[in-house]
Amino acid sequence: MNRKDFGDDFFWGVSTAAYQIEGSITADGKGPSIWDVFSKKKNKIFNNQNGDIACDFYNKFTQDLYLIYELKIPNFRFSISWSRIFPNGTGQINQQGIDFYNRVIDLCLELNIEPWITLYHWDLPEKLQEKGGWTNRDIINWFSEFVTCCVKHFGDRVSKWIVLNEPMVFTGAGYFLGVHAPGLRGLNNFIASVHHAAMCQAAGGRIIRSLHPNPYIGTTFSHSYLEPYNTDNVKDHHATKKVDALLNRLFIEPLLGLGYPLADLSILNRIEKFIKPNDMELISFKMDFIGLQVYTRELIKYVPFQPFLQANIVKASQRFVHHTIMDWEVHPDCIYKAVKKIEQYENVKEIIITENGAAFDDDLKDKRIFDLLRKDYLQNHLNKLLKAKKEGSNIKGYFVWTLVDNFEWAEGYKPKFGLVHLDHQTQKRTIKESGFWYRDFLS
Ligand code: GAL
Repeated sequence: MNRKDFGDDFFWGVSTAAYQIEGSITADGKGPSIWDVFSKKKNKIFNNQNGDIACDFYNKFTQDLYLIYELKIPNFRFSISWSRIFPNGTGQINQQGIDFYNRVIDLCLELNIEPWITLYHWDLPEKLQEKGGWTNRDIINWFSEFVTCCVKHFGDRVSKWIVLNEPMVFTGAGYFLGVHAPGLRGLNNFIASVHHAAMCQAAGGRIIRSLHPNPYIGTTFSHSYLEPYNTDNVKDHHATKKVDALLNRLFIEPLLGLGYPLADLSILNRIEKFIKPNDMELISFKMDFIGLQVYTRELIKYVPFQPFLQANIVKASQRFVHHTIMDWEVHPDCIYKAVKKIEQYENVKEIIITENGAAFDDDLKDKRIFDLLRKDYLQNHLNKLLKAKKEGSNIKGYFVWTLVDNFEWAEGYKPKFGLVHLDHQTQKRTIKESGFWYRDFLS
């Protein structure tokens, strides 16, 4: 397998997110985000860590963009911190926030790296959370104001746009389970935020389309390849179907004009009370591409006493299979299966793998890190992606998660996904073998 096999127009990249790398959480007029607040609460994050400093990308972006350049990665995906631009969420624009992203974009272009902007990667302005955040329907207006501002300020140089990062995760973990910011729980919070995020997903796309002369617009979905734990057990099959509707279908289907998958997910029936006339038309939008973020396979078991779904994910460690620090099974076929599944939807034009990568323990020895597990992980997943591509799947790109070891949300700094190692004491970056492998592959 080599780069050419994927074609000359294939987008090779690396993905990051503002809160996970930037640090400088109060610099130059930035307002607080829900992650700034949530990460300070006791026992929410591994070892009570937070993103106050993270990779100090705010000050070290030049070094990191040069790393991308050195690694010969032609596309860089990063997100905009909403509260850097709108410290209060809406209203007054903070010019210094705009200036920062202008510097990032300009340096990308100077280095011949194409910038890909994710508009929302989970760090909602705290001021908007005080008004209910994603549970408040007004977020459709707040988000529209933010998107409009970004396209107006950056659209002269940026044509690649990603509206939301994994809405299932930020609504599920943030508004249902309470394990991510803002730490809310309960079905009502969840359902309200699902509907408003789905509305914003389409509204964001429409705004970009209307303001930008030649945009390439997408949005991303977490996608787990699911199988029943016991393939002979009908109940495990039913459970898998429900979990699939929740994890893999809940956001893409309304976007594609298919409505919510309520037939397979009756616990969400109450969503109807949040749906206003015309919503189900406004909720769909023709994206240029669908971003899939694929890491693993999950096995699903029927568990009668489990509330809501009567289903559980059987963790990889309990199954004694090869897994990462996240307890995610290493199962390269998942990427092939994800593409094959999503391309069956009629309105999906192009697919980009906007995240794929692995967290393993890294050992820094003699200033080198031989992270062969990560290298194998990437290589094996790419092989499976190529298989799908050769069979005719319309896959247009692949982005590794991530550049530098960063703040992995509730897991803190423990899982290391980077192609580049970070020493948190000194902020020193060291390219890992997987980084060199990616460079050589791309060369
Ligand atoms: C994704 C998320 C990223 C990163 C990655 C690895 O769900 O979009 O921000 O955290 O998982 O954990």
